[in-house]
Amino acid sequence: MGFFKRLKKESGGVTTPPLRHIAFIMDGNGRWAKKRGLPREFGHSEGAKAFIRVVEYCIDLDIKLVTVYAFSTENWKRPQSEVDGIMKLFVEYLEDGLTNKRKKNMRVRFLGDKSRFSPEIQALMDEVVEKTAHFPYDLNIAINYGGRDDIVQAVNTLIKEGKTEVTEEDISNALYTHHQPDPDLIVRTGGEWRLSNFLTWQSTYSELYFTKKLWPDMKEKDVDEAVEFFKSRKRRFGDVKEERKAK
Ligand code: IPE
Ligand code: IPE
Ligand code: MG
Repeated sequence: MGFFKRLKKESGGVTTPPLRHIAFIMDGNGRWAKKRGLPREFGHSEGAKAFIRVVEYCIDLDIKLVTVYAFSTENWKRPQSEVDGIMKLFVEYLEDGLTNKRKKNMRVRFLGDKSRFSPEIQALMDEVVEKTAHFPYDLNIAINYGGRDDIVQAVNTLIKEGKTEVTEEDISNALYTHHQPDPDLIVRTGGEWRLSNFLTWQSTYSELYFTKKLWPDMKEKDVDEAVEFFKSRKRRFGDVKEERKAK
């Protein structure tokens, strides 16, 4: 069943304004480790624990769709040892999901260009997508993701389909997030006030929440604070009236 159909069926819209899609830029792992005199890799493994904690809490809050930014198209510039450490954690996460070790599971979709990963990792990713397809809550993992790459691949898909002119809807439906609602709220940890190539097309009307908290320190109460911030927003989408109902 498609996202909007399920949302209708299960009522959804957990806050006013409705919070259907929350996205996290999980930043600050390296600084978390550095503060403790540890290698950056330690920050990433603590970050992986925070990721599980936060997405599971979003299920408790009945948020139907969560997106996390795990690795950008620019993050390959980092030292090879750090990239290898992140990929190892990614594989561990995938394998855990397949053995059903986790208490709560979500229907996974990967956002980003998969072709950069080894055939073994790509096969694992496909298996996770297939084996989680029946879960009721959605999780997007943005990995080797870039907002610009997302738009470029969408346009190339449309060209291949023979389109010579496109609409906004065509592009939206060809993005990695096709047929999902845009993020209502984007939360960035780590104290940087930028989006760093995340959901460029999809974030035009997202509410933005920045916190200095480093990602491995992100707890349930920090998610609550972000949600409270969101509830206080008046979303107008260019109109003079605020949105009260999910579109
Ligand atoms: C975010 O934490 C994780 C990734 C980008 C993969 P960082 O590794 O960017 O941590 P800081 O920003 O250097 O502290
Ligand atoms: C953004 O963090 C990417 C992820 C969290 C995956 P970065 O640490 O790469 O962003 P910049 O370099 O500070 O903009
Ligand atoms: Mg960073």
